[in-house]
Amino acid sequence: MIQKLLQKCQNKQIKEQLEYLSEEFKGKIAFSTSFGQEDQVISDIILKNKVPIEIFTLDTGRMFEETYKVWDTTNKKYGTKIKAYFPDKDKVEEMLSTKGTYSFYNSVEDRKECCNIRKVYPLTRALKNIDLWITGLRAEQSVTRTDLHLFERNETFNLIKFNPLKDWSFNDVLNYLKENNVPYNELHDKGFLSIGCAPCTRAVKKGEDIRAGRWWWESKDKKECGLHIEQPDEIKIKISRL
Ligand code: ADX
Ligand code: SF4
Repeated sequence: MIQKLLQKCQNKQIKEQLEYLSEEFKGKIAFSTSFGQEDQVISDIILKNKVPIEIFTLDTGRMFEETYKVWDTTNKKYGTKIKAYFPDKDKVEEMLSTKGTYSFYNSVEDRKECCNIRKVYPLTRALKNIDLWITGLRAEQSVTRTDLHLFERNETFNLIKFNPLKDWSFNDVLNYLKENNVPYNELHDKGFLSIGCAPCTRAVKKGEDIRAGRWWWESKDKKECGLHIEQPDEIKIKISRL
């Protein structure tokens, strides 16, 4: 299948690739946005060309106010309502009641628990009937993403992932946003490059790595929240029961 998709998509612009994929995976294709710069490029292409692809976001409950603003601006500009998935209230209540409000600073294990509850399990619900999942990942973003492929089989969610910006540079992204007048998160103008949840994201200094502001207290090779890594078996089992 991946071979066929690669053949069909080679030498095509992203708009044409998305149009083809929306036909091939009719009703079973979705794009996840965190409203970061890369995601705003893809949303712009989908929404202004009215490509029939669902766009959703995982509202972790700990996002920046500025992120809600760009969500709102995007809805208004394109006349759309981006779909939200929220964490399971019982799981959040239990975590907060037993571990307090900042458990993610305790250990990588506690941080992953929070990411699983607030992101991975809601993503599982979002991808339940989806066969092709589109993301804004770029290979250049991180040491954990250097061998990114345009199409990848994902075992955790049992689908194919499509990463149309795989080979884009950071400047390509910025130029696209500027040239196409696409709304972006105002935190980007305050030194924030990659933006996730508020307590786990900080601004970076000039010359610092693009993801240096994410989970800055952890080492580089651990900086994945779990959306884009194959999960260990015990989490796969939990996911399969959701
Ligand atoms: S993360 O794994 O470190 O959080 P990153 O912020 O680089 O991911 O974003 C990579 C891609 O993951 C985005 O382009 C988007 O497709 C998806 N993604 C990340 N966070 C979210 C979110 N909160 N809601 C929806 N999609 C997300
Ligand atoms: Fe929790 Fe931080 Fe992960 Fe957000 S990024 S889900 S607050 S650990």
